[in-house]
Amino acid sequence: METEKARGTETVLVLGGTGKTGRRVAQRLEARGMPVRVGSRSGEPPFDWENPDTWAPALGDVGAVYISYYPYLGVPGAVETVGSFADLAVASGVRRLVLLAGRGEPEEEPAVDAVRESGTELTIVRSTWFAQNFSEDYWAEGILNGELALPAGEVPEPFVDADDVADVAVAALTDDRHIGELYELTGPRLLTFAEAIDEIAKAAGREVRFVPVSIGEFASAAAEQGAPGEVISLLRRLFGEVLDGRNAHLTDGVRRALGREPKDFADYAREAAATGVWASKR
Ligand SMILES: NC(=O)c1ccc[n+]([C@@H]2O[C@H](COP(=O)([O-])OP(=O)(O)OC[C@H]3O[C@@H](n4cnc5c(N)ncnc54)[C@H](OP(=O)(O)O)[C@@H]3O)[C@@H](O)[C@H]2O)c1
Repeated sequence: METEKARGTETVLVLGGTGKTGRRVAQRLEARGMPVRVGSRSGEPPFDWENPDTWAPALGDVGAVYISYYPYLGVPGAVETVGSFADLAVASGVRRLVLLAGRGEPEEEPAVDAVRESGTELTIVRSTWFAQNFSEDYWAEGILNGELALPAGEVPEPFVDADDVADVAVAALTDDRHIGELYELTGPRLLTFAEAIDEIAKAAGREVRFVPVSIGEFASAAAEQGAPGEVISLLRRLFGEVLDGRNAHLTDGVRRALGREPKDFADYAREAAATGVWASKR
């Protein structure tokens, strides 16, 4: 059942709308002919989590918001920031929120609760690592150089395609049946990082090695490359704590939300390779 809002003229604000999931959410809503506003520091008007003065202008005429917070909901201050934003959104007339969170991350719970407490229609999308980290973010550079060094051992992850995350978010923004749901999203297959890199090497038709390193080596290399302290501590936590096997199982979130299976990593790798993203360097 489509909502009045989905058919009407109210704008959907897509926070993180230039990022891996937000960009896809915005594209899908635009393809349906819905008014969309990209909320990010490069948006028009700009939206900056660190500058609350930018929030009200971005919320004008907005009926629903996709919240992809940056850097992640577990950082100090996130509870107050996303909680204040959600309260302001509701006071401004927003009736529906769709919140992206990480999977198996108790540190994020207080921020999720703060959004819940805004009292409006809410869908929570708890996602495992995106496959697109290998092509649109953190790890693409290593693959281009033929070697990805990460502090990941044999623990497998069920990488999920950002297309699936966006499909679920769009369904939740536009269809009343998802109100109050919590969808835990994974891909259909568990893969170690070495296996994921093998799939990518095969799809890209080039040699790529996965090199396991210690957390300390990884953090020093990231610092040398200029990564901010906040990002380094996030990566330390993700690899040192969250990648401990707690997420090494599949969930049915994509099927429950969309009535279809999630996209396989091999399909992701083939599609990403076809864009040429892993085609130069070396
Ligand atoms: N990556 C994963 O595998 C994964 C998995 C599960 C959950 N998540 C969650 O997804 C969220 C997004 O993370 P991501 O790594 O995937 O990044 P991303 O969405 O690909 O990129 C970050 C987005 O946030 C915007 N942004 C950055 N700083 C901002 C600020 N101060 N104010 C407003 N917007 C800002 C960026 O746009 P501008 O630069 O234009 O501002 C960009 O649109 C996080 O909450 C993360 O925990 C990520």
